[in-house]
Amino acid sequence: MVLGAVAAGLASCPAYADDTFKIGLVVPMTGGQASTGKQIDNAIKLYMQQHGDTVAGKKIEIILKDDAALPDNTKRLTQELIVNDKVNVIAGFGVTPAAFAAAPLATQGKIPEVVMAAGTSIITEKSPYIVRTSFTLAQSSTIIGDWAVKNGIKKVATLTSDYAPGNDALNFFKEHFTAGGGQIVEEVKVPLANPDFAPFLQRMKDAKPDAVFVFVPAGQGGNFMKQYAERGLDKAGIKVIGPGDVTDDDLLADMGDAVVGAVTAHIYSAAHPSEVNKEFVAAYKKAYGSRPGFMAVGGYDGIHLIYEALKKDGGKTDGDSLLAAMKGMAWESPRGPISIDPDTRDIVQNVYIRKVEKKDGELYNVEFETFNAVKDPGKTKK
Ligand code: PHB
Repeated sequence: MVLGAVAAGLASCPAYADDTFKIGLVVPMTGGQASTGKQIDNAIKLYMQQHGDTVAGKKIEIILKDDAALPDNTKRLTQELIVNDKVNVIAGFGVTPAAFAAAPLATQGKIPEVVMAAGTSIITEKSPYIVRTSFTLAQSSTIIGDWAVKNGIKKVATLTSDYAPGNDALNFFKEHFTAGGGQIVEEVKVPLANPDFAPFLQRMKDAKPDAVFVFVPAGQGGNFMKQYAERGLDKAGIKVIGPGDVTDDDLLADMGDAVVGAVTAHIYSAAHPSEVNKEFVAAYKKAYGSRPGFMAVGGYDGIHLIYEALKKDGGKTDGDSLLAAMKGMAWESPRGPISIDPDTRDIVQNVYIRKVEKKDGELYNVEFETFNAVKDPGKTKK
């Protein structure tokens, strides 16, 4: 009787039988959001080269699955990882709908879901097993809304990607910008998949705003800036402001001079002047020949969180022990000091205001103002 109960308990305990600790990494490696998956995969490989692949006596194994950012794929692949591969943690999730799709599976499987990319506030409320190492759009959009008002921007046209994080960006920006007396003169939502910005940009130019507030997800900023310049919005003196997704370091170097002067609020710049970041950028460049962007940092911090949780709980692999160890953890990331809020399981981090400048012939987001230890405003304001 007793033995039977123990055996049944062990059978449902993931990866108990061996000393392997499995992480199911579900990210887009193909399709429009592929740059997110590549950055996260690169950063995790780099971290594991730097820190080894054994933690608390367990060999870390990453099982990578490409969901192409399609939530039906996310759900199927995550389920296979939990049921067949018996992973201890699921991680990645390049877009909000993917993070949502995995949430009930994390709850049922009682395993941590480490969200390394997606940025809608409500994600962490979808499962008590979700922990986030990326960011929220509310963190940056509230701050750029206040900044715009204080810096003489009176009329703004908005262009946001038409899904959950775009709506968060728009609503939190609008709330802060209009509360300070700013006016929204044009509001445009563009589809997530393969957006053509040109017709919208023409409408925005005609509305003659002081600035355009833009949220497009990582990977789309280059195309946006190209069409912004082609339509002559830069020449018309219409500034670009927004959360920093549009000037992602991954693409910034190739965006051309029209992007110079764009002011964004964000959580990471490759030009962040700390020793930890200088080493990170140098190592990433050496390994991959390109600059890391904010998605790479979300992956780097996500794998760090998993390593440290496993160490802190003494090698216990069950989800509840890992989650308890993750709550409240604090460390210095390449982006600056960060921690996991023990109550919300969301990331607390600095938000920087940055301006795109040319330094030694290369385009960078140069930070000039810091807001320390920002919690997700979406948690208290809803
Ligand atoms: C998201 O889908 O939550 C998302 C994706 C890319 C970003 C920001 C948010 O740059």
